[in-house]
Amino acid sequence: MDWVTLGGRSKKNALTEWEWNEDGDRATGKLGFLDFFIAAAALLIVLWVSANGPDRQYDVKPTDLRGILRYIPRFREKVFILAIDGSIVTDDNFPNLLLDIAVLRSLNIRILLVHGAAKQIAALAEERGVKASNLDGTGITDAETLQLSLNAANRLTHEILEGLSANDLRAVSTNAVIAHPLGIVGGVDHQFTGKVERIDVEMLQSLLAQGIVPVIPPLGFDGDGKTYRVNSDTIAFALAEQLKATKLIFLTTVDGLTRDGQLIRQIIVGELKQMLSRIPSDWPINLISKARQAVAACEAGVPRVHIINGEVDEGLLAEVFSNEGIGTLVYANEYTQIRRALKKDIRALLNLTKDSVASEELVKRTRASIEKQVGDYYLYEIDRNPVACVALHQYPEQNKGELAFLYVAPSHENMGIGSKLIQFVEARAREQGLAELVTLSTQAFTYFISKGGFMEGSPNDLLPARRERYDASGRKSKVLIKRLRPAA
Ligand SMILES: CC(C)(COP(=O)(O)OP(=O)(O)OC[C@H]1O[C@@H](n2cnc3c(N)ncnc32)[C@H](O)[C@@H]1OP(=O)(O)O)[C@@H](O)C(=O)NCCC(=O)NCCS
Repeated sequence: MDWVTLGGRSKKNALTEWEWNEDGDRATGKLGFLDFFIAAAALLIVLWVSANGPDRQYDVKPTDLRGILRYIPRFREKVFILAIDGSIVTDDNFPNLLLDIAVLRSLNIRILLVHGAAKQIAALAEERGVKASNLDGTGITDAETLQLSLNAANRLTHEILEGLSANDLRAVSTNAVIAHPLGIVGGVDHQFTGKVERIDVEMLQSLLAQGIVPVIPPLGFDGDGKTYRVNSDTIAFALAEQLKATKLIFLTTVDGLTRDGQLIRQIIVGELKQMLSRIPSDWPINLISKARQAVAACEAGVPRVHIINGEVDEGLLAEVFSNEGIGTLVYANEYTQIRRALKKDIRALLNLTKDSVASEELVKRTRASIEKQVGDYYLYEIDRNPVACVALHQYPEQNKGELAFLYVAPSHENMGIGSKLIQFVEARAREQGLAELVTLSTQAFTYFISKGGFMEGSPNDLLPARRERYDASGRKSKVLIKRLRPAA
């Protein structure tokens, strides 16, 4: 099996070496009966929810089980930190979010929940007719605001515990965040604002191992029995770092990070760091805070940080279990790979390309025809989800190759993936000593010319057997040629 790693990853023996996963989240084992059982149980929960849950519209298909199964070995017993803004806890979608958490728990994912309380502190201050000195735990917390924070945060923690109980989840509130005063910064005493000193990892690990969901308020405790107001995003980072979380997921009130008003679906940490040196003017303060903690977390070894809108129904599950997700994924390392397809990938190839076949961009292929030449097909995967594909059919006797079946999912277009796949096929063809590549296209011929360096040819350039199939198809595709070495 061939693996190629792209971007910043190792290129040692790139075309022939099996290489897999530098982010430490490789499937921890093969799927066993237990995994199947767990997935079936998870699916039953989803089905139950679809039948009984308030206002939920799950469109559950039998293939969902297959979809869920794929993730089980990968996420089993891994730690996910969910950092939930206070406003999300009181949002109408929160009961749905709790159901999503129940699904994650049923898959044996270890969940730790940290919440903010800014909205509730503001509401309590108004109710009591006082002015809070700070809402999000980053400014000065005076004695009165500390009292507001204690009341608001503890009330919120309790609400979360109630919600988890209603979903049959065991949960507990802890004093696992050990803090000290932020102190005097720039000549200003921050009074009861605290800073995370350390996390009681042992306590949390032991709770997680027992299947208990720790719920962490935005407060820290010191050895003298004092409490400090601590910003929940910074607690989330400290938890993710010290518990070596697989994912840190911020659930907030916006869809994610944006560039020129457009949602950024995925961004490598280095690029986000650059953006933070010139922060877009439309990013709200609490989004900037999440972006900063995302960078810190990735740099501290957390492979994936997600920023998603907690008000979107099924958003959490979509983010975790679909490649496209709903928000922004910040990733610590290059995580894309091109690998040769296996028989078990045929369904994925057909699914991926079905719309393109329907719109006549790609010629229809049957399962049997792909199976016959499955070694010619390659998948481009992101986090092991196929988002693009290509095939190289070889005619060694004539020293020719055909680049075919190039397809990039619409969600991943214009990111250079098509070009990378053309380069990949070209490198592979050269490695095989082929002198010429040909490709047929109905709707992307200018793409092959401008981006792939192909030249327009004619049907006469096709080998006789291929010409026969070309004529029989009636598609009248354009023929494009690329010479890989000068004609002899
Ligand atoms: C054609 C296709 C493979 C391009 O993939 P991609 O990953 O989006 O392409 P890249 O990111 O490498 O390149 C993007 C550039 O190509 C251009 N481009 C994309 N599709 C194009 C098309 N059909 N015709 C001409 N140019 C096209 C984009 O406008 C963009 O141009 P820019 O760099 O000047 O802004 C993809 O759109 C696709 O899968 N199309 C449907 C299937 C198909 O037609 N396959 C070819 C037949 S084998």
